[in-house]
Amino acid sequence: MINISFEKSKKRCWILQQREKFSSRLGFLLISAGCAIGLGNVWRFPYVTGQYGGAAFVLIYLFFLLALGLPIMVMEFAVGRASQRSVATSFQVLEPKGSKWHLHGYVAIAGNYLLMMFYTTIGGWMLSYFVKMVSGTFVGLSTEQVKGVFDSMTAQPVPMVFWMVVVVLLGMGVCSLGLQNGVEKITKIMMCSLFFIMIALAIRAVMLPGAMEGLKFYLMPDFGKMAEAGVADTIFAAMGQAFFTLSIGIGSIAIFGSYIGKDRSLTGEAVNITLLDTSVALIAGLIIFPACFSFGIQPDSGPNLVFVTLPNIFNSMAGGQLWGSLFFIFMSFASLSTIIAVFENIVSFGIDLWGWSRKKAVVVNIIVIILLSLPCVFGFNLLSGIQPLGSGSTILDLEDFIVSNNLLPLGSLVYLLFCTRRYGWGWKNFLSEANTGKGIRFPKWIRIYVTFILPLIIIAVFVQGYISKFFV
Ligand code: ALA
Repeated sequence: MINISFEKSKKRCWILQQREKFSSRLGFLLISAGCAIGLGNVWRFPYVTGQYGGAAFVLIYLFFLLALGLPIMVMEFAVGRASQRSVATSFQVLEPKGSKWHLHGYVAIAGNYLLMMFYTTIGGWMLSYFVKMVSGTFVGLSTEQVKGVFDSMTAQPVPMVFWMVVVVLLGMGVCSLGLQNGVEKITKIMMCSLFFIMIALAIRAVMLPGAMEGLKFYLMPDFGKMAEAGVADTIFAAMGQAFFTLSIGIGSIAIFGSYIGKDRSLTGEAVNITLLDTSVALIAGLIIFPACFSFGIQPDSGPNLVFVTLPNIFNSMAGGQLWGSLFFIFMSFASLSTIIAVFENIVSFGIDLWGWSRKKAVVVNIIVIILLSLPCVFGFNLLSGIQPLGSGSTILDLEDFIVSNNLLPLGSLVYLLFCTRRYGWGWKNFLSEANTGKGIRFPKWIRIYVTFILPLIIIAVFVQGYISKFFV
């Protein structure tokens, strides 16, 4: 018995010593930003902004990124870097003896899988739309027929499963190459291309005739519009978006803290990542809103905005096939950057918990994630009778609700309490880890805010989420 546990701990020590590291700071920044930059920025942000009245929503969203997202991201990084582990075992390393913080590790593992259970499907849609655009599927189609393409894609399980599997294999394929040779190298190339494509698209969009109206809607706050959409709902949506876009609370960011050294302070790094993430979301809006207004289309069509509204716009635009293809490759890169980052986290669970080799963790997880992604795919066709959140809702909506409205805010609360309370890791330990290295310091004066006020804000978001979902 003693020998077995000695062997186990020897194996764990070995894993700890051998922990892989990023080859460069740029790699760390781009991969963490890649984890944050995803469908949340390029798909969710534009349509939620469209639904909640434009610029006023954007202002509130930016406020929450700063007041809520940033401090929690620093905390995740600090826990990752101090423990040198993924969320699966990081709390075990840092928690006071006998406490139960490590139970959050299991919730966080579930959170990462759940996020991927629907993300792989939407990632598959993006890839399939890229192929459709390149091959001219939409050329000459009427508005109704463009909508029909989306409806028929979601109605057929086989092509949907095919694209989902392609996404899983691509993501896991990159992870199988290792941290530096796979995840870091490929994500760097993808993120740099994403920035170039995005800027080209934004320049094209703002030069469209009538683009000014779209820019006004997007950039000039109109609180009247926000009142029409409901003030409480708008605030709640902005907070939810801040959690989702940074993917905080389930340790999907923490892992990257475990792959870096101590030469940089963590607040500075979190500021850089949040700025990159925010720029991508804001520029996605600069692409979408001028285009919508230029073609006389209201940008409040919800989740369909990207798949139904935009192909119509590309259809009526000079050079639309090229711009549409660039747009969907941009969307695919954004979703793949998150998928690769979260897959890296998922792969590390097997490595950290059971000492698996990377190869074994990749193979097992390919099978597990494909199986787990099936309910979301089938929710649009074979299982469309299951409408878990009311009429018209899908399994995807349920999975998104569990992650975005529950695991992200509650997980963030756990990180917050862990880093500020004496019965957790504690303020002093957190502050010393966050401030180790060159760069911006985590301000001491916000202790009262992060200890007492921020937890209340998160609880309020959580409760309001339930009220607006089920009682209004
Ligand atoms: N942070 C990821 C996104 O924005 C989940 O899509």
